[in-house]
Amino acid sequence: MDKLIRFLDIDPTAQLHAAAIWLLIEHRLDHIIEVFYADVRQSDPALALSDETVQRLKVTQRKHWRSLFENQLDLQYFNSASLVGIRHSQIGLDPKWYIVGYARIKTDFSRVILNADLPLATKTAFLVTLDKYVALDMALAISSYTSLLLD
Ligand code: HEM
Repeated sequence: MDKLIRFLDIDPTAQLHAAAIWLLIEHRLDHIIEVFYADVRQSDPALALSDETVQRLKVTQRKHWRSLFENQLDLQYFNSASLVGIRHSQIGLDPKWYIVGYARIKTDFSRVILNADLPLATKTAFLVTLDKYVALDMALAISSYTSLLLD
């Protein structure tokens, strides 16, 4: 993970931005996740998700996002990102759904940032940081996914 963090140039400023992004999105997260899974359920019946699973996912997703943006990219976060790939692999979720699903959630996060009452330069910096964090998060999840497939 350290090599990816260096490559993406996630520096202390980006980490401060990530914590600020969390403060912006945390209040909207339940709604974003709820709409996300409602749309997932409508998009493909093969992705059958029970009400109980969606309830559980609201909690685990919140924990995951918090860990990504707030935890300074520590071991707990690394384990959480790896677990996303492992769980998806266990349930047989095609990575294409994870990727397009992620794009949807990222668009919602970007919208929250763009609608925030902040100077344009700050919003731009936050969007750049969001891109880096999303890339790291997807990379770690997909990497644990594929290493399971290769084992
Ligand atoms: C169409 C897209 C997706 C579907 C159908 C889906 C479905 C699921 C399912 C069924 C589980 C297992 C839940 C359980 O039984 O406890 C799961 C786990 C999880 N998913 Fe997804 N997922 C999708 C995309 C995403 C995306 C984009 C993220 C973003 C990070 C994500 C984050 C998680 C997390 C954090 C867990 C819990 C891992 C754990 O701690 O056990 N999922 N997902």
